[in-house]
Amino acid sequence: MTMLVVDDVFSGYGKSQVLHGVSLYVNEGEIVALIGANGAGKSTLLKTISGLVQAQSGIIRFQNTEIQNLSAHRIVESGVSQVAEGRAMLKRMTVLENLRIGAHVRKDKKIRQDIDQIFSKFPVLGERHDQLAGLLSGGEQQMLAIGRALMARPRILLLDEPSLGLAPMVVTEIFRTLRALRDDETTIFLVEQNARRALQVADRGYVLERGQITLEGTGQHLLDDEKIQQTYLGQRA
Ligand SMILES: Nc1ncnc2c1ncn2[C@@H]1O[C@H](COP(=O)(O)OP(=O)(O)OP(=O)(O)O)[C@@H](O)[C@H]1O
Ligand SMILES: [Mg+2]
Repeated sequence: MTMLVVDDVFSGYGKSQVLHGVSLYVNEGEIVALIGANGAGKSTLLKTISGLVQAQSGIIRFQNTEIQNLSAHRIVESGVSQVAEGRAMLKRMTVLENLRIGAHVRKDKKIRQDIDQIFSKFPVLGERHDQLAGLLSGGEQQMLAIGRALMARPRILLLDEPSLGLAPMVVTEIFRTLRALRDDETTIFLVEQNARRALQVADRGYVLERGQITLEGTGQHLLDDEKIQQTYLGQRA
């Protein structure tokens, strides 16, 4: 089933247009990666999907409902959860408080249970539940940012450069986590500058250049593409 459809979306900031007719889709249970250079519009696309930036035109459909005119809050409620960019969590709050905040759109009573599940996925967060988030390492903060987004019980998780600034071993750990989440039936739309890692983990991928999709295919197909190798993987033909 197709879970998320972005159809001919134009978006930007005030009069400056960043996305010029972007179309893509994400099927249920997939990891889909979006790669592109600095300033291509990757974060703008994620923010437009999650309602933090208003689309100028086009349609964004999530589980057959148009969401492009809903508030960010309603979009989270409908099952789309974005992992905070740059791990911008509340550093002066504890790990546990951050996870509770992630659940603020929920009305059910199973929050404690889900926190325990996050702690079993990320044991280090359980060990440090009463520590200030700002004292965690970069990798641990990324796990907390993912955990916090999961507390909204999303059907799809949007991630903006989860590997940014992390050591290679920690990056491996984060990508392993994403694969485990996908196997756990969370659909993932991932924005990355680390194109190789992203395409290795992704079922499918898209390339965004200056606000337009210029290439798409399976992760392997894109890894094998000569132009991608030259431009994004640092290889010469
Ligand atoms: N809040 C904003 N107001 C005005 N312009 C913005 C704003 N945020 C981003 N832009 C501009 O929109 C364009 C696309 O930025 P965006 O952050 O979407 O790129 P990106 O692909 O995520 O880049 P990076 O890889 O560096 O994160 C850039 O030219 C940027 O300067
Ligand atoms: Mg960005």
